[in-house]
Amino acid sequence: MGSAGTDDKDPLVIFTPSGKRGRFAKGTPVLQAARALGVDLDSVCGGRGICSKCQITPSFGEFAKHGVTVHEDALSEWNEVEARYDRVKGLISGRRLGCQAKVLGDVVIDVPETSQVHRQVVRKEASTKPITMDPATRIVMVEVAEPDMHEPSGDFERLKDALAQQWDVHQVSAALPVLAKLQTVLRKGKWQISVALFQPDEGGVAQILEIWPNLHEGGIYGLAIDLGSTTIAAHLCDLTTGAVMGSAGIMNPQIRFGEDLMSRVSYAMMQEGGATEMTRAVREAINTLAGQIAEDAGIDPKLIVETVFVCNPVMHHLLLGIDPVELGQAPFALATSDALRLSAPDLGLSTLNPQAQIYLLPCIAGHVGADAAAVALSEAPEQSEDLVLIVDVGTNAEILLGNKTKVLACSSPTGPAFEGAQISSGQRAAPGAIEHIEIDPATKEPRFRVIGCDLWSDEAGFAEATAQTGITGICGSGIIEAVAEMRAAGLLDGSGLIGSAEQTGTPRSIPTGRTHEYLIFDGTATGGPRITVTQGDIRAIQLAKSALYAGARLLMDQMDVEAVDRVVLAGAFGAHISPKHAMILGMIPDAPLEKVTSAGNAAGHGARIALCNRAARKRIEGGVRAIQKVETAIEPRFQEHFVAANAIPHKTAAMPHLTTVVSLPDVNFGASGGGANDDGRRRRRRG
Ligand code: FES
Repeated sequence: MGSAGTDDKDPLVIFTPSGKRGRFAKGTPVLQAARALGVDLDSVCGGRGICSKCQITPSFGEFAKHGVTVHEDALSEWNEVEARYDRVKGLISGRRLGCQAKVLGDVVIDVPETSQVHRQVVRKEASTKPITMDPATRIVMVEVAEPDMHEPSGDFERLKDALAQQWDVHQVSAALPVLAKLQTVLRKGKWQISVALFQPDEGGVAQILEIWPNLHEGGIYGLAIDLGSTTIAAHLCDLTTGAVMGSAGIMNPQIRFGEDLMSRVSYAMMQEGGATEMTRAVREAINTLAGQIAEDAGIDPKLIVETVFVCNPVMHHLLLGIDPVELGQAPFALATSDALRLSAPDLGLSTLNPQAQIYLLPCIAGHVGADAAAVALSEAPEQSEDLVLIVDVGTNAEILLGNKTKVLACSSPTGPAFEGAQISSGQRAAPGAIEHIEIDPATKEPRFRVIGCDLWSDEAGFAEATAQTGITGICGSGIIEAVAEMRAAGLLDGSGLIGSAEQTGTPRSIPTGRTHEYLIFDGTATGGPRITVTQGDIRAIQLAKSALYAGARLLMDQMDVEAVDRVVLAGAFGAHISPKHAMILGMIPDAPLEKVTSAGNAAGHGARIALCNRAARKRIEGGVRAIQKVETAIEPRFQEHFVAANAIPHKTAAMPHLTTVVSLPDVNFGASGGGANDDGRRRRRRG
């Protein structure tokens, strides 16, 4: 393939890494050749030699593989534009500007990663998969014709003509605030302006979100927000490079209306204007979070032109200002389950650019939200050869089970215990929080590590290293380890009852009323906290883990399987959960330990994928329809599984893989061997 009118004598241009090739007439700019071949080479200024996005690296010499020899004069010599750019900003040695360098002979041209529009973005955490950049919003620079009295037309109409001619974008709209400043910006830029163009469908209607005179070098940004019941986490992403410029999280202020989702739905039902109040609170928090994350990154929040939300159905409705009351009762009807495209003013997000576009991932069902859809987008169970169980641990757990043939999803009301809430010494994962703990089965003595320090508490230098942060409490992953270690050390029996000092042989078991607590750390002598695991903490963790296990088990019933091939632990702190401890606790079904992996915050990662890749939005919109929903709230077997899962690790399930790694002591601290948790039943709760 090549440009019109070429023949065999025309120079052959080969692009790497794509391997695309074609013949082009001498004098064709490399950028033009790339475009003709569909090679992914970036350009913002449209070949004016100012944006430097089109950098390429020509290679010279013999290329047996390609069957060409590239001579030194295969490209035109450096021109003044390149020389000036090099002088002012510097060009990496060997690089050329693709819009300036012209093809004169056969040539092999490499397009570096940074010059590719659809580059892959890999994050440091090995667990997250790379994202291919294909954002809905991009910046293009255009040269608009000046007005002519003899051919009267509006500035906006001439801008549209310019976008059609220079960027092949034919249907363009702009909101009134953009039109209102168009004339000033055009004249300031001497008819050259940069345009933030939002085009959610390739080749479809484009909307101008923002305009700047000349070349806009300040970038454009997007927020990927995981709106959870307990915390709101956001990533600020550069929409051109995909780089994460900052991440931050805050507590969801709706907690004051109820800790879990069901109590928030009740608040909406019982209180006049309650839903509106919660909507206002969460929107305010998002505005604050957006402002804070942008400020920390040194970025003007008005440059945030897109935001993607993932959330559970109740949060989804409360964010949108829809009363969630229908979600509190069967048949759990959503007001709308499809993906939503909105703009910042619709949600009162005044911190963002006034034209900022909002995308909400689709919900899967009344209890299985856009957060589960985001997990599916991130982990792609529908592409898995083996049967994978994905558990996104949060206040409400999203659970997916599937492989290439079928994917099932449910959500389970775990409550906030795994996030350190409702735990006596619980706290958010922050410096000073205990995140790892080991208990010696012989001496029953604990050693632990806190966030912000790599030393164990019994290692030299620990006291000095933690002097700054102190030892403040236990975070979510810490409490999982603490309970599992207590069980493995014989401090806790299978029913979840903490033994007395006499029964366990350690003075760390201290009576509190009719039950006992296990003392991990006592800092009271120096004004610090006393950190213990109480019987109440164990109960809260038992409820949470039973709900999680029961949800997973229910999906396994539906799939008609007794075991899964692998387990992926996800969630805001999923990456920090120790697979061994999760299995001792019985949070997840038994599986080979090496097949239990962490995926980090899969819902948050799914939100970033949707933010940076518009095709992914289409994919998940189609994908959720194929996911089979399982409703835990009305499934009688859920309650059965829940009760059986109350024991640690489990009342009846065989744990063949777990027994190869650890043998749990057969202790029983109850008078009748009964459980610590009544009959294991619980109030139905979503949260
Ligand atoms: Fe902008 Fe080449 S396309 S400098």
